[in-house]
Amino acid sequence: MVEGGIVKNSNPDQYAVFGSPIKHSKSPGIHKQFAIQTGQNLVYTAQEVSAEDFPNAVDGFFAKGGKGLNCTVPLKELAWQYADFRSERAERSRAVNTLILQDDGSILGENTDGIGLVTDLVANQGVSLKDSSILILGAGGASRGIIGPILSLLPDNVVIANRTVIKAINLAEEFIGLGSIKGCGFDALAGQKFSLVLNATSASLTNQLPPLPEGLLAENGVCYDLAYGDEPTAFVRWGQANHAEKSLDGLGMLVEQAAEAFYLWRGVRPDTLPVINSFKT
Ligand code: ATR
Repeated sequence: MVEGGIVKNSNPDQYAVFGSPIKHSKSPGIHKQFAIQTGQNLVYTAQEVSAEDFPNAVDGFFAKGGKGLNCTVPLKELAWQYADFRSERAERSRAVNTLILQDDGSILGENTDGIGLVTDLVANQGVSLKDSSILILGAGGASRGIIGPILSLLPDNVVIANRTVIKAINLAEEFIGLGSIKGCGFDALAGQKFSLVLNATSASLTNQLPPLPEGLLAENGVCYDLAYGDEPTAFVRWGQANHAEKSLDGLGMLVEQAAEAFYLWRGVRPDTLPVINSFKT
């Protein structure tokens, strides 16, 4: 079939995102725009898959000729286990959001979340991380996935603050060789200032906010919530109330992590800004 000058075969390559809940995922819409933009013949669907069903569902997907998968909550650690081998950044983050079928039939596990975040911050938002002082709220899987790419941009220092203090301390210790990083509880933040505060807790999902002291944000400081929603999240509103220069949600990160996955699958880089803008109301 010839469509818009592009020769297409009638069997598009199959991709999907697995997760639970998945109904409201923006990923199919994002990848559809990427495919149209770059003339790639593929379809990308969202499938509700529980942790229990995950191994069988992935086996079935690739057995039927699927080429690549994204995995989201609560499946990223399981995807890490499933992969036959993993990139260095996926290895360190102990979570995989992208599975890629290799020519020999093996499955490569990648994590594009961290690169998605730093691309949105640096390239799209013009935020420089070099010599900055960064606070990461939360010490779960979302934090683990972004720390390596953040440290690679040479901030002056990174602090991880978490409700369960020991998790922040242990997580910081895993990355100690890559830069100046330490873990603490929220109480220990009093009197400190940061040029960038990232919310990687799952508190946003229930519209809650970690207990944050006054004066945490330096002048011209930036706030970034890894979560996103149709309305500003509680943390985005906190940033606005605390005079952040920018207080952003994770829509840009979502599109950029998708673009990196698309590039790994197809070898083509889509243009992300029109896609990000298409989701803004
Ligand atoms: P994810 O994979 O999304 O990171 P997770 O591994 O379950 O999910 O981690 C959730 C993170 O959000 C944790 O750091 C959690 O703090 P605890 O380790 O103390 O549980 C944090 N979190 C969740 N709800 C929170 C809340 N209401 N206030 C502060 N932190 C919260």
